[in-house]
Amino acid sequence: MYTDVRMASNSPAPNSSTRFYGELARWWPLIWPVDDYEEEAAEFVRVLREAGVAGTLLELGSGGGHNAFHMKPHFALTLSDLSDEMLAVSRALNPECEHVQGDMRTLDLGRSFDAVFVHDAIDYMTTEAELAAAMATAHRHCKPGGVALFVADAYRETFSEDTSCGGSDGPDGRGVRYLEWTFDPDPSDSLTCTQYTFVTRELDGSLSTSSETHVYGLFPQSTWVQLLEAQGFSVSVVTEQTSDEREPRRLLLARRS
Ligand SMILES: C[S@@+](CC[C@H](N)C(=O)[O-])C[C@H]1O[C@@H](n2cnc3c(N)ncnc32)[C@H](O)[C@@H]1O
Repeated sequence: MYTDVRMASNSPAPNSSTRFYGELARWWPLIWPVDDYEEEAAEFVRVLREAGVAGTLLELGSGGGHNAFHMKPHFALTLSDLSDEMLAVSRALNPECEHVQGDMRTLDLGRSFDAVFVHDAIDYMTTEAELAAAMATAHRHCKPGGVALFVADAYRETFSEDTSCGGSDGPDGRGVRYLEWTFDPDPSDSLTCTQYTFVTRELDGSLSTSSETHVYGLFPQSTWVQLLEAQGFSVSVVTEQTSDEREPRRLLLARRS
């Protein structure tokens, strides 16, 4: 379903499966707690509101539904993701939202929305063809005059290597900690890697460790804009407003004519 990385070589390959969005999905609420998403979700709501969006919104790659939790008071949400396990986590948090299993490269619900929202899941598009396919899905599901909001973590020109750690404890005594190490093994290609290590503590105190590498696509902003325009969108670049100590992301607001 996802990708493994050829760690022996310098160049990551488009790949197969990770446990993160499978058997580890139940830890998602403790890995990145839903409260951590409040500020960025409010910013996405602000941008969408200013673009005139007030009704229905489809999220592609909605994961555990943490952004959705903060966005659902403002829009009628349909949440889609590749992973049944992540959808189960989101259903528990957002029972009032519609949930649909599907691949953002091929999803076709046969109906359109006032807006389409794609957060960090878009980073899993590792080739221009995959990115274009996800953009085509957004276009297919956008009403004429509607918008698609894309929130990539980075473009080729804004990427920087990074290491972070985090995690939290649940009220029941379970806990998780993680190390997230992002690097670019080959700056001449369009792929980056993030190596994750998770340590989980069960109710009985038993600890488990697992590590895996995720491969992400990395493209120049101009490539994104060209691919969106080729789908029939007109594109505005919106600089995110954030109090986080990091470079604000450049959001792409794409309007379907
Ligand atoms: C980091 S999580 C998203 C978390 C989400 N932003 C939230 O608020 O909880 C990334 C998600 O992308 C999903 N994903 C990866 N490739 C996908 C694809 N081709 N189509 C749909 N979802 C995909 C994964 O299953 C995973 O749930």
